[in-house]
Amino acid sequence: MDKLLIRGGRTLQGEVLVSGAKNAALPELCAALLTADPVTLLNVPQLQDVSTMLKLIRNMGVTAERADDGTVRIDASALNTPEAPYELVKTMRASVLALGPLLARFGEATVSLPGGCAIGSRPVDQHIKGLAAMGAEIVVEHGYMIAKLPAGWTRLKGARITTDMVTVTGTENFLMAAALAEGETVLENAAQEPEISDLAEMLIAMGAKIEGHGTSRIRIQGVDQLHGCTHRVVADRIEAGTFLCAVAATGGDVMLRHGRADHLDAVIEKLREAGATVQAVEGGIRVQSAGGATLKAQGFRTTEYPGFPTDMQAQFMTLNCIAQGTATVTETIFENRFMHVNELVRLGAKIQTDGKVAVIEGVPRLSGATVMATDLRASASLVIAGLVADGETVVDRIYHLDRGYDCMESKLRGIGADIERVKA
Ligand code: UD1
Repeated sequence: MDKLLIRGGRTLQGEVLVSGAKNAALPELCAALLTADPVTLLNVPQLQDVSTMLKLIRNMGVTAERADDGTVRIDASALNTPEAPYELVKTMRASVLALGPLLARFGEATVSLPGGCAIGSRPVDQHIKGLAAMGAEIVVEHGYMIAKLPAGWTRLKGARITTDMVTVTGTENFLMAAALAEGETVLENAAQEPEISDLAEMLIAMGAKIEGHGTSRIRIQGVDQLHGCTHRVVADRIEAGTFLCAVAATGGDVMLRHGRADHLDAVIEKLREAGATVQAVEGGIRVQSAGGATLKAQGFRTTEYPGFPTDMQAQFMTLNCIAQGTATVTETIFENRFMHVNELVRLGAKIQTDGKVAVIEGVPRLSGATVMATDLRASASLVIAGLVADGETVVDRIYHLDRGYDCMESKLRGIGADIERVKA
C-alpha cells in the first residue's frame, strides 16, 4: 500500500487548480444511465471512486470512455444488465445511486446493500422508502435490493416524498427517478448541497423539468424521455476547503483557481474567525494566513448544507489542534466520524472525545510520526497535520485519500509542500 512521506514546517505559496467535485461526478455518471443518447461530462476528477463508478456502469453494458483532460463520454444505449454487484458496491457506497436511474429507465434494478463503513452504519432505508412511494416494489434478499415496477406498469409514478432526515444521495436518487416518472414528484426535506443543484442542472439539460433545487422542496414534472447533454462538473468544495485549512494551518498565500467561495460560507466564516484572510476573487478563492499559533481555535457543529459540512470536520480539527485556545466540535451527521482523533493524538494533539463531541486544546507544536489513514476525510486531516508537524510524518493506507482527492500530493508539492508518495 502506498504511503505519503511529509516533512513539515513549510509555508504554502502559489496556485492550486480545484478539480471537479467527486460528489457531483458520481451521481452524474449515474444520470447518464437515464438516456440512450450519448452524454459527455467535462471536468470529471481523476479519482478511484470515479474509476469504480465507471467499472460499475461498464459492467451493466454501458460504453464509457475517459480522456486525460477530465472528459468522460458515456453511451448507455446498450445497457443490458441493470445490476450493481456487491464486489463494487462494498468499496463505494455511492453505487446506490444506480438504483433510481435503473428503475426509472428499465423498470428493474438489482443493487447490493452497501453495508457499514468506517464512519458508522449508513442505512439506505430512506432510498427504499422514497422509491417505494413512487410505486417500486423492493425486496431485500441475499444482501441485494431487488426492485421492479408492479405488473402492468411501464413507469414509476410521481409522489410526495418526505424523508425522515436530510439525505444527499437519497435526494439524488429521487431526482433521477422522478425525472422519468409519470406526473409530479415533490421532495420535501430535500438536501440543498451544491452537488444536488449541479445534478439538477444536468438533468434539466437532458430535458427534465425540475424546480426548487438548492432549497428543501424540489418539484419534478416527469417526462417520457430524456436526451443526451454535455455538462461540466461543478468545482469540488470539499477539496477547496481542505486546501483552505491546509494553508490556514501552515501559513502562506495561495490562490485556489476555480474554487467556489459561495459554496463554502460556513467554513470560510470559521477560518476568518480563526484569523486567516479568505477572499472570493475573480476565478477562485485566495487564502492568506500567518499560520500556527496566530490562529484562534473555533468550535462548530456539523450540519447539512448550508451548515458546516461533516466532510470538513476532520481537516478543521487539525487546524484547531495547533491554534490558541480550546474548541468544541460536535459531529451530528455520522455516528463514528472521529477516527482521526487517535492518530492526531499520536502526533501530539490534545483531544478528548465523548460520543459526538470532541474538545480540542491547542498545542504549540505537533511532532511527526507514522499515522494511519482510516477514511477519506480523516486522511486529509492527517496530511494537514503532517504539513505543520516538526520532522517527518508518514501517512499510511492512503488508498482512502486516492478515493476522493485528485493528485493531492502533486498539488501540495506545487505550492511548496515537502511531500512524496512512497510506492508499496
Ligand atoms: C453524502 C456524501 C458524503 C457526505 C454525506 C453527508 C456523496 C457521494 N457522499 O453521503 O461525502 O459525507 O453526504 O454530507 O455525495 N441515512 C439514513 N438512511 C438513509 C440515508 C441516510 O439513516 O436511507 C443517514 C445516514 O446514516 C447519515 C445521514 O442520514 O447519518 C446523512 O446521510 P446522507 O446524506 O445520506 O449521506 P450520503 O448521501 O451517503
